Amino acid sequence: MTQDELKALVGQAALQYVVAGEIVGVGTGSTVNKFIDALASMRDSIRGAVSSSNASTQRLQALGIPVFDSNEVDELSVYIDGADEIDANGYMVKGGGAALTREKIVAAQSRRFVCIADESKLVEVLGRFPLPVEVIPMAVRRLKRQFAALGGVASLRLKNGQPVVTDNGQHLLDVTGLSISEPLRFESEVNQWPGVVTVGVFAHQKAAVCLLGTGGGVRTISY
Ligand code: A5P
Repeated sequence: MTQDELKALVGQAALQYVVAGEIVGVGTGSTVNKFIDALASMRDSIRGAVSSSNASTQRLQALGIPVFDSNEVDELSVYIDGADEIDANGYMVKGGGAALTREKIVAAQSRRFVCIADESKLVEVLGRFPLPVEVIPMAVRRLKRQFAALGGVASLRLKNGQPVVTDNGQHLLDVTGLSISEPLRFESEVNQWPGVVTVGVFAHQKAAVCLLGTGGGVRTISY
């Protein structure tokens, strides 16, 4: 199966976690796009969605799925999102699609995080994928030095030669060269550096379940 087919497989499989009559938390990315397309079949049995990005909001609305502001909802029973990396504990790196801060907000208001990913995302230690960090632009130079002190190389994410601007109006660093052996501690530490909006380690908001797309079908891993 191609990677695209594996993404479609897990996107479809995630429907079993969507609770009829409720609002579902929806992430961002190419895997989640497959989930959103599949969710259209349940359009009439759910109330709607809380979305983690403008891109997902547009896709949901184009399929006739109502999108609620996160402030209109106290708690969601489930949040469904992809990952750039996931380890054996359900800790993840996310933010390749630039939506990490809103993803963490919606994940935090959800009782259960269901991660959907193809098997290429499974890692032993987080850090192979360049770690996304959403940052306040004026802190970029100093934060690069802070990551260098940890052995990482932080680069400003660019598109057409210009800094990528997130849905929150901020910039992104991508950090290579890290081996994140203690994700909980790492997330807590980096999140308190002045100028960091959100680090893309999802350890405090880790997955409860991962639906992993493999050549042999969907493997369900619970943490
Ligand atoms: C978006 O900001 C990310 O956190 C995505 O969930 C992650 O990059 C996975 O994306 P794909 O499903 O496109 O690989």
